[in-house]
Amino acid sequence: MRSKLVAGNWKMNGNLASNQALLKSLIPLLKPLATARAAVCVPYPYIAQTEHVLRGSGIAWGAQDASEHEHGAYTGEVSAGMLADFGCRYVIVGHSERRALFGDTNEIVAQKYAAVLKAGLTPILCVGETLAERESGVMEQVIARQVEAVMAQSGATSLERAVVAYEPVWAIGTGKTATPDEAQAVHAFIRSRVAEQDICVADLLTILYGGSVKAANAPALFAMPDIDGGLIGGAALVAEEFAAICSAAN
Ligand code: PGA
Repeated sequence: MRSKLVAGNWKMNGNLASNQALLKSLIPLLKPLATARAAVCVPYPYIAQTEHVLRGSGIAWGAQDASEHEHGAYTGEVSAGMLADFGCRYVIVGHSERRALFGDTNEIVAQKYAAVLKAGLTPILCVGETLAERESGVMEQVIARQVEAVMAQSGATSLERAVVAYEPVWAIGTGKTATPDEAQAVHAFIRSRVAEQDICVADLLTILYGGSVKAANAPALFAMPDIDGGLIGGAALVAEEFAAICSAAN
């Protein structure tokens, strides 16, 4: 039985004061969660603040990226080991914004995924197609390559210690969500590609849906058999909205 996970991706938003307010209001709102897990992935400078506020609350925290390197002359980069020092449990890798704007290829994402695992943290591997890829019929190839890159680098069994997030690029921040059936079809496809290599790992793998998830559409998405929760952008910045999404997963 897979338990559901809802992870917030704050992206490059917030400041000390607004984070403090948001995190403090999440604690009582998420207390009643019985089975679902909740996490927030915050910008690097605020990880210490998040650790300070959330420690002992049951809400996990994490980062939105990590270097593929362990240490060294990589100005501006942050290693997964550094994130582990601040109690992070999750690290998003391969978010479509990183892929599109910062040159993260499947190979780099696979290296980052391996680095996160090596530091003892849980990678949230984002995969997803653009609208052009969906419309030209190459969606499955694109997603298969994204998933297979990490299996080639770290093995299919590594997914036992990871989370996959299916995020159609056309649904991110656009207000356009994949329908529950559209999302379910891709989630089942991802699970089947993993099952070709390891059926037990495929069965246990947590696959989140992301892209304009709101309190209003979360219940229908989370009711699908292969959707194990969500990766939430905009709606994660509003405590009541994020809490409502988490309770839909509960
Ligand atoms: P969104 O973002 O919920 O604002 O669409 C999701 C994401 O990019 O992870």
